[in-house]
Amino acid sequence: MVLEIIEKLKVSSKASNATQDFIEFDDGTMLWNASLVLLNYICEHEDSLKGKRVLELGSGLGHLAVGLCRVGALVTCTERPKELIDLTASVQKQLSDVRLKLEQQMTAPETCTASSIRIHSKNYDCPSDQETSQHLASSSTSCSMGSVDAVALEWGEEAFCRSPLAREEVAPFDAIILAEVVYNTSYHQDLLWTIQKFSHPDIVIYSVMVDRPFSFMFFAQLHDLGLYDVEPITEYDSLGMDKNMVHMHRITMKKK
Ligand SMILES: C[S@@+](CC[C@H](N)C(=O)[O-])C[C@H]1O[C@@H](n2cnc3c(N)ncnc32)[C@H](O)[C@@H]1O
Repeated sequence: MVLEIIEKLKVSSKASNATQDFIEFDDGTMLWNASLVLLNYICEHEDSLKGKRVLELGSGLGHLAVGLCRVGALVTCTERPKELIDLTASVQKQLSDVRLKLEQQMTAPETCTASSIRIHSKNYDCPSDQETSQHLASSSTSCSMGSVDAVALEWGEEAFCRSPLAREEVAPFDAIILAEVVYNTSYHQDLLWTIQKFSHPDIVIYSVMVDRPFSFMFFAQLHDLGLYDVEPITEYDSLGMDKNMVHMHRITMKKK
């Protein structure tokens, strides 16, 4: 569980993690350190995403999405249609683990628990959505969790019309998350199109990548659109990551 891994990294020998851009679990799945860096930054900063509608592009196994849900964000995590089954299964597993943990903690009266966690998985061309809700008794309303929707979304204009996000009325997102998604230059144009599709004057976009200097071409292309301000974020040090490897950015729309 990502929040627990972050806490361990803060107290353990950080250097061993700083040299690698991912952690491998016993079942062979991977957790990209970039997502830990961004989640840690969001947890530590006032501009937290609690109660905010968050769109994550290229969510992988949804570790960051679940972490953001646990700090109160209403997350729509997205993946290519063929990856959506794995994303949904992983999110369900992580949220079940969170629920178990919280239920164990509920014996302590001062413990804060979630009020509701929800998974709503939607793929392309699927007549009925698959919805799983996990409701938890709440002992504190001041610290409830958010939700996670898992939705198929492939980047680019041509693929967009097949996504459930194109078919239905979707309220604007407050933030877009890009964690380790700008590694492949052949996807840059499609990714830029998708970001623009969900942008509005108040959107905040967070991008994070570890050890991918070649990916800066993406930011050059973003800059050339003339629509966005890109500001580097340098306060990520509490996980002990190498400053030369971590690149985190906050992207907002230029004010007219
Ligand atoms: C390096 S992984 C990062 C996963 C996740 N963001 C994380 O930090 O753990 C990149 C993800 O982007 C997704 N992806 C790549 N190209 C995509 C595309 N054209 N449309 C949608 N997702 C894409 C991949 O399926 C993959 O899960």
